[in-house]
Amino acid sequence: MNKNEIFQMMQKDALQIGLIGCGQISRVGHGPAIVADGRARIAAVCDPNAENRDRFARMFSVSRTYPDHLSMLAREKLDAVIVASLPWHHAGQVRDVAAAGIPMLCEKPMATSVQDCKSMIHAAGANGVYLQICHNKRFEFGFQRIKEMLAAKTIGASYHVSIDWNVYVPNYDEGIVKTGLQAINKLGFHPEKTYGDWRIKDARFDGGIFFDDGGHYIDLARFFFGEIESVSCATRRCMANRSSDDFVTATLTMSDKTVVVLTRSLVALGPKIYGIECGHIYGDKGTLRFNAFAPHRQKAIKVDIFKIPNLLLRSYVPAVLPYGRRKTGYFRQMRYFIDHLTGARPLERKFDGPWAATPEDGAAAVAWTSAAFKSAREGIKIFRKDIEA
Ligand SMILES: NC(=O)c1ccc[n+]([C@@H]2O[C@H](COP(=O)([O-])OP(=O)(O)OC[C@H]3O[C@@H](n4cnc5c(N)ncnc54)[C@H](O)[C@@H]3O)[C@@H](O)[C@H]2O)c1
Repeated sequence: MNKNEIFQMMQKDALQIGLIGCGQISRVGHGPAIVADGRARIAAVCDPNAENRDRFARMFSVSRTYPDHLSMLAREKLDAVIVASLPWHHAGQVRDVAAAGIPMLCEKPMATSVQDCKSMIHAAGANGVYLQICHNKRFEFGFQRIKEMLAAKTIGASYHVSIDWNVYVPNYDEGIVKTGLQAINKLGFHPEKTYGDWRIKDARFDGGIFFDDGGHYIDLARFFFGEIESVSCATRRCMANRSSDDFVTATLTMSDKTVVVLTRSLVALGPKIYGIECGHIYGDKGTLRFNAFAPHRQKAIKVDIFKIPNLLLRSYVPAVLPYGRRKTGYFRQMRYFIDHLTGARPLERKFDGPWAATPEDGAAAVAWTSAAFKSAREGIKIFRKDIEA
């Protein structure tokens, strides 16, 4: 009996969670976070892909599996549901779960259109159901500490943020990469599926990688600096056989006048196979630097502080942050969600206002991501008054 089987057996009386979608993020994010939290168990899962469903069920010792969410909702008595399917299914599934009166944690992007987001907000509201959106970066200790330092004016007044989130995904439809991948596929391994090639190859997902995860930093910009006042954006499809743009750079102007420049690229060669996800936040009295990691690496982010003495000493001060798997955004997001469901004492923080992304935050991220694409398409700057929110 492995540790997950023992855990599932011991948790019979715990909160019963149902999971929609058994792909990568459920395997590396939600599943481990539920197990680590210890107050809930994965009672049932659904996924039309039998291989992913069975793999997840084996990994987390889940005995009740379904091919679709409606049969799961009809047969299970669930206390909460996690929606971690593909983005274009979120809206319909959230509406169905809301109609069943069950609280939810829904993956980002909340949906693929603002209209869908609105229908989800309406369904949650009409059924009195709690809906939290997985903008999990808000729960990273490092980003929490940055928010606290911004509130305490540690770097004075911020004026500029630059974020680079770049990796190299080769064109595996041609040449030696294609041959290599075919050989790996013959051995039964499908790395392109494991890492979600719907982001670059599926015409149902217009917007690609930036629509998929650019919203994380659009959301974080709102979390740190207030409302977004305008966006201007440029995009390119560097590899022509992709169904969406693989290089995007968006400039956001925030209500406190901070300018956020966000670059997302799948064509940037660099020293690391995982690419880079890093940024600088500049204020008139200092700079904050962060390095973040993909959820599957289960590593907490790093934050460094630069002030004038550091400049003179050619050094920086690392922010002291707790380290380890249970301190990552995914674990803390789940903890917050379960705290909310059980009425437990919430996580401590030194900033005012709400923490988890509400459905309105999720919708704002979708609205501004869509606005960024419109800006690139039409060669115009888009202002807050022009976006559907
Ligand atoms: N918050 C984060 O940091 C983060 C990171 C990665 C992915 N995600 C999000 O999680 C979601 C899933 O991404 P992923 O990387 O796990 O993708 P994935 O391709 O690995 O998994 C998606 C799974 O959904 C299943 N699915 C397809 N249609 C379905 C349906 N109708 N009902 C139920 N399941 C269905 C697929 O078969 C697959 O198993 C996406 O919205 C993605 O943006 C979030």
